[in-house]
Order: sequence, then C-alpha cells, then structure tokens
Amino acid sequence: MNIAFLASHGGSNMQAVIDACKAGRLDARPVAVICNNAGAPALDRAAREGIPAYHLCAGRRCPDEAALDREILATLRRHAADLIVLAGYMKKIGPAVLAAYRGRIVNIHPALLPKFGGKGMYGRHVHAAVLAAGERETGVTVHLIDENYDTGPILAQATVPVRPDDTVDALAARVLEREHVILSETLQRIAKGDITLPAPPGPAA
Ligand code: GRF
Repeated sequence: MNIAFLASHGGSNMQAVIDACKAGRLDARPVAVICNNAGAPALDRAAREGIPAYHLCAGRRCPDEAALDREILATLRRHAADLIVLAGYMKKIGPAVLAAYRGRIVNIHPALLPKFGGKGMYGRHVHAAVLAAGERETGVTVHLIDENYDTGPILAQATVPVRPDDTVDALAARVLEREHVILSETLQRIAKGDITLPAPPGPAA
C-alpha cells in the first residue's frame, strides 16, 4: 500500500505513520509528501526520511485552485499512491483528487465526530470547544473524507478522558498522543483488509 501524505504544519501524525512503516507495524510505503506551506516542519521531516516532498499551492506554477488540484493529482499518480493520508492538511481537497481517490482519502480529527467537527473546528478550536461544553471525554476519529468537512464514513474512534483541570494545551497533547497510535493502527487494518474500502473509481468515461 503506497501512502501519500498531504500536510500543512507539523506532520507529527505523518511521522508516526512513517515510524510505524519503518518498525514493521504497518505494511505500507510512504511515497510522497505534499504540503501547501513552504515553511512546514512536515517538509523537513520528509527530507530527513528521504521521501519525495512537494510544496504545492496556488501561485505561479498553479495559477488557480483547479490547476493546483490537477497538479496534486498528477503528483499522486506519478508516485502510484494507493491511499492519501491527510496529516493536518488545512485545505479542502479539490474535486479532481476527490473523484480519483474517493474512498481512499483518510483524515484524522482530534475529537469524537460527529461532535466538534465542521468548518472552523480545527486545532485548538476543537479542544477549546470540548472544554467549554464541559465534556467528560473526547477522543480521536479516523475517517474517510467526502465533499464536506468531517462528515465522511468513520473508520475508527478512540476516547480520551477530559480531566477537571485540563487546559487546551494539556488536552491537545493527550489527544495527539492517542492520534499517533490510532492512525497507524487503522492504516494497518486497511492494509490487512480488515477494513474494506469502497472499490476505487474506474477510469473516467
Ligand atoms: C492533528 O491534531 C490532527 O487531528 C488534525 O491536525 C493535527 C495535525 O497535527 N487534523 P500534526 O501536523 O500531525 O502534528
């Protein structure tokens, strides 16, 4: 299973998956990293790991979002990616990539979807909302993506307790630790066929 990552920032989830591959806990091969942010640590991680990495964003090379979408798809195909992992990717996936990889784009969200998902629910906002709502537990969701934010089929979830004295930072750190484990475990269940993904789309008519 060839995995390509789309990331925007730290890439710690991406690193956890790469480490799982190297340790033999995940039967997969990281083949490419695509990042929309030139300064992202995810790009440094890719360089350290010797994984081909691309900074792709709308700009001179890709004048608009449609061109960027096509360029991302061409990059994924060039590296024969079977599965895309969104590892903290802050942009919406374009229609061309979504159509070609529907059912094969995995996202990780730092809460128990459908709670605390949707537009604007990312990073610290999620944990702040969980604390403000007085939740006693939160967690992690691994899911497939569709056209909307955080609504695709759920593949796996894990709970994380909320402590009475939790801060956003403390909770975020505890959830992230859980993310690092569940993402690789879920990808391994896909690799082993324990989770069956929808059939890949056929060639365009
Ligand atoms: C994680 O909390 C993930 O759930 C969310 O974005 C964050 C990415 O963190 N989608 P990292 O870049 O993997 O460190």
